[in-house]
Amino acid sequence: MTRTVYVNGQYMPETEATVSIFDRGFLMADGVYEVTSVLDGKLLDFDGHLARLERSLAELDMDKPDQFDDLLEIHRELVRLNDIDEGMIYLQVTRGSSGDRDFVFPDTQTTRPTLVLFTQSKPGLADSPAAKTGIKVISIEDIRWGRRDIKTVQLLYPSMGKMMAKKAGADDAWMIEDGHVTEGTSNNAYIVKGGKIITRQLSNDILHGITRAAVLRFAREAQMEVEERPFTIDEAKEADEAFITSASTFVFPVVEIDGTKLGEGTPGPVARRLREIYLDESRKSAI
Ligand code: PDD
Repeated sequence: MTRTVYVNGQYMPETEATVSIFDRGFLMADGVYEVTSVLDGKLLDFDGHLARLERSLAELDMDKPDQFDDLLEIHRELVRLNDIDEGMIYLQVTRGSSGDRDFVFPDTQTTRPTLVLFTQSKPGLADSPAAKTGIKVISIEDIRWGRRDIKTVQLLYPSMGKMMAKKAGADDAWMIEDGHVTEGTSNNAYIVKGGKIITRQLSNDILHGITRAAVLRFAREAQMEVEERPFTIDEAKEADEAFITSASTFVFPVVEIDGTKLGEGTPGPVARRLREIYLDESRKSAI
């Protein structure tokens, strides 16, 4: 099926959508993005994604796209036009194209940000087999830049990490810096020990996951203990459970780290429960 996508104010077939070869997103990875999930044709955590987008833009001194105030309507219209029941909406903003290549940022009076959105239909997203079997991760060095709190489109290393995992027969990679886990290639990382949920605290070292914020809030509301601090990969291997969160996976249990099985090598009760709560609560507040 040909998707209907959105580019700079217009809905059009994906086959007709184009962006300039001089776009700074293409030449310099000078862009930011958001991924918002859709369940029952509704958007999950939309306000959180919009707030993070605004923050990413501000941190990079990038103007908001001219259509910023219409973003909810654009998301909803794309869901409608593409008949999305379960899936994701991808949104990208770049600093635009000045019609040439230059390291200096273009004048914002004459060069406006590029805004692109498209849908990804994923029937069965909420009922993913990986949620039942759990995933395997490997550890790799974290060699990304120092502003991982900004959701930029510089995804080459995370993409390489995913390939390293695939090659090793695993599903994803957890990245390690100064002996401690930062996060997964495209998700936040957690371990559970003695009933306590442990995850790295927010800083410039990790993306401030929108799913993370919701899951930790639900965990605390359910009287689960949460500790926000760095943990090592050895500590993770000895944990009772581990899991990841992101907009595209919600909560996935991790059952193996660098070939070491966690517990019985099956999803643990805390990850299972958090996934259930997250899905229930997010469906209720979806818009
Ligand atoms: N990735 N950490 C990184 C490095 C990520 O890329 C993501 C999301 C997360 C989780 O954030 P959130 O809960 O807001 O989705 C953490 C998206 C899903 C992606 O790149 O496809």
